[in-house]
Amino acid sequence: MRNSRILGLGHYVPPRVVTNNDLTALMDTTDEWIQQRTGIRERHFSDGWTGAADMGVDAAREALQRAGIAAQDIDCIIFATLSPDVDMPASACLLQDRMGISGMPAFDVRNQCSGFLYGLAVADKFIKAGTYDHVLVVGSEVHSTGLDLTTRGREVAVIFGDGAGAVLLGPEPDARRGILSTHLHADGKFAEKLWLESPASRARPRLTEEMISGDDPRVFPKMEGRYVFRHAVTRFPEVIREALDANGLAPSDLALLIPHQANLRISQMVAMGLELPEEKVFNNIQRYGNTTAGSIPIALYEAVAAGRVHDGDLVCLAAFGAGFTWASALMRW
Ligand code: ACO
Repeated sequence: MRNSRILGLGHYVPPRVVTNNDLTALMDTTDEWIQQRTGIRERHFSDGWTGAADMGVDAAREALQRAGIAAQDIDCIIFATLSPDVDMPASACLLQDRMGISGMPAFDVRNQCSGFLYGLAVADKFIKAGTYDHVLVVGSEVHSTGLDLTTRGREVAVIFGDGAGAVLLGPEPDARRGILSTHLHADGKFAEKLWLESPASRARPRLTEEMISGDDPRVFPKMEGRYVFRHAVTRFPEVIREALDANGLAPSDLALLIPHQANLRISQMVAMGLELPEEKVFNNIQRYGNTTAGSIPIALYEAVAAGRVHDGDLVCLAAFGAGFTWASALMRW
């Protein structure tokens, strides 16, 4: 059976940079608090009327160009996001149309910070099975339009940023190279620890005045930060070790770990637990915040561009997020 591998990478972040100091004009917070707790210095926010698919198109075009593959040769489009352009149809369909292509399947994956790896795992299986040759996987988020940018929402609002990343996945005939394995998990009993309650299909109407206004609006994401943190620092190493064990490898074999950029302190604790030196863990949360489904492909893009990934390197991607969901992918570059 053949493997899959990344043929091209692309990314896009909106040009507007919002520093921690910029946020202090909107809410009671400080640059020091944000940097100390999360490592974040700045993030990018869209200027409005830019949806997840709009940003994804730019990332996808770059990935195709780097792969040397024409848009019409994409066999399938998988779009990971928790901030779809509209409730329906899928952002994947909107992106397909904006790229001027049609006919191939296009669907969204709604698995938050693990969404990109869930999408990558599905794409990998399609290619391994011989169903498709070229699968476009996009991770894109516009968080800025959905955050409570007041003191009430500060715990969540300071963490997130907008951005998109994309990979074009293709076949790899050598079973020792490309994506070696993917590992996916979820535990829905923690759904309410990090969630966005409305609009909700269980409510009639789905969006009410009461959901939007009042002291406790339910149209913004809510998170029990410490609880999520504790689970993240357990699940990340667990799922990374699972990927290594499945391939008879050890943490010391890794050339680079690219964790989902949730919090710099989480990445540092994971690295410490796996006894990985600092140079083997890639972090760029300082400049982007948490871009959720966009975070891993943006980080991988930057790691490759910075010369941190070499031919034959063992690279692990890992994620943890709302659901709870967690996932990893191990690849030989
Ligand atoms: N500025 C200043 N003070 C703040 C802010 C802020 N932005 N936010 C909260 N505080 C205050 C709190 O009110 C609290 O004050 P109190 O002690 O008077 O009550 C104090 O700071 C400490 O708050 P904690 O919540 O204990 O802070 P903590 O050290 O846990 O850091 C954080 C919060 C950064 C959110 C952390 O818990 C975290 O990163 N959690 C995990 C996030 C994550 O990984 N999410 C998963 C991915 S996201 C996804 O899947 C969509």
